[in-house]
Amino acid sequence: MKVLVACEYSGVVRDAFMRRGHDAMSCDLLPTESPGPHYQGDVLDIIGDNWDLMIAHPPCTHLAVSGARWFKDKQPEQAAALEFVRQLLAAPIPRIALENPVSIISSRIRKPDQVIQPYQFGHRDTKKTCLWLKGLPPLMWTHLTDGRDDTIHKMPPGPDRWKNRSRTYAGIAEAMAGQWGQR
Ligand SMILES: C[S@@+](CC[C@H](N)C(=O)[O-])C[C@H]1O[C@@H](n2cnc3c(N)ncnc32)[C@H](O)[C@@H]1O
Repeated sequence: MKVLVACEYSGVVRDAFMRRGHDAMSCDLLPTESPGPHYQGDVLDIIGDNWDLMIAHPPCTHLAVSGARWFKDKQPEQAAALEFVRQLLAAPIPRIALENPVSIISSRIRKPDQVIQPYQFGHRDTKKTCLWLKGLPPLMWTHLTDGRDDTIHKMPPGPDRWKNRSRTYAGIAEAMAGQWGQR
C-alpha cells in the first residue's frame, strides 16, 4: 500500500507501516528525525500523487481548545489552520485519518469519528486524541493499561518541548499500521 504520513517529522508512523512492508513516506516542513523516505516541504505539493492511505497530523497550535483564551488574537492564523485541515480532508485519497487534540475542527468542520487515548494502546499517558476518518474503521484498542500519567502536560520547558509533546505514540502508530495496513 502506498502510504503518506503528512506532517510527521518523527517517522514513527511511517516506520510502523514500512516494517509491515508498505511503501510509506513521511512529509514535513522539517527534516525527518529518523532516516527513511521523507519529503521535506509542503504536503500539498505531493498530496495528489496517487496515495492509497494518508495519516495526517496537522499543527494544532491555533486550533486546540486548550489554547482557547488566545483565540480572539489569532483569527487569521486560525482561519489558515482550518483551511489546511479542510484541504487535507478533501485530498484525492481513498482512506484518510486526520489526528488532532480536542480542537475547533469539531465545531467548525465536523465532529471527530473517534477519540482515543495513549493508555488504550500500551502507554501510561492521558492525552485525548481525536481522529477524523474517511474510508477507515475506528481504531481498536490494543492494550489497555491502568496507568494514567500526565507526562505530556508536565514536560519541562525547553526548545524541544513542542516536539516532545507532539511526537506520535509508538503504540498508536503500531495500531494504525497493523489495522489500517490490512485494508
Ligand atoms: C503537531 S506536529 C505533528 C508531529 C507528528 N505527530 C510526529 O510524530 O512527527 C505538526 C507538524 O506539521 C508540520 N507542517 C505544518 N505545515 C505543513 C505543511 N504544509 N506540509 C507539511 N508539514 C507541515 C510542522 O512542521 C510540524 O512538524
